[in-house]
Amino acid sequence: MALREIREYGDDVLARPCKEVKEVTPRIRELVDDMLETMYEANGVGLAAPQVGVLKRIVVIDCTGDDPHILINPVILETSGEQTGYEGCLSLPGKSGIVTRPNYAKVRAYDLDMKPFELEGTELLARAICHELDHLDGHMYVEKVEGDLVDNEELSQEAE
Ligand code: NI
Repeated sequence: MALREIREYGDDVLARPCKEVKEVTPRIRELVDDMLETMYEANGVGLAAPQVGVLKRIVVIDCTGDDPHILINPVILETSGEQTGYEGCLSLPGKSGIVTRPNYAKVRAYDLDMKPFELEGTELLARAICHELDHLDGHMYVEKVEGDLVDNEELSQEAE
């Protein structure tokens, strides 16, 4: 496993649509391992392949630190409800913004054996699913932010 460089907002690779994975090759397995390691190292709850410069429809998500989800070719099946709250992205370090997302999301994806499965979640997991899947179509949360982006330092001061 190896850490990969996280591409930052403004990098063209983050604005392009990703291609479906046809086959899980050893290279794809290595990419997924590296994405997980890179996400944990950066204290993120999700990472999409374009964030490490690879235009493939692969996402990793872990909202609790011990429950990794690997989603290959994920497609949203269902969403419902609404949540409004601060959201950030490893490709825009140190910043957050208020985004409204569904409060529930269900996706179908493929695992590393290309077996289909479904994942559903509420609250943070639903938010992470929607945020990461947006990356696969070249979209960043900043397009959906209500109001201004804020520095995370200001947010933590507000909380004190
Ligand atoms: Ni992101």
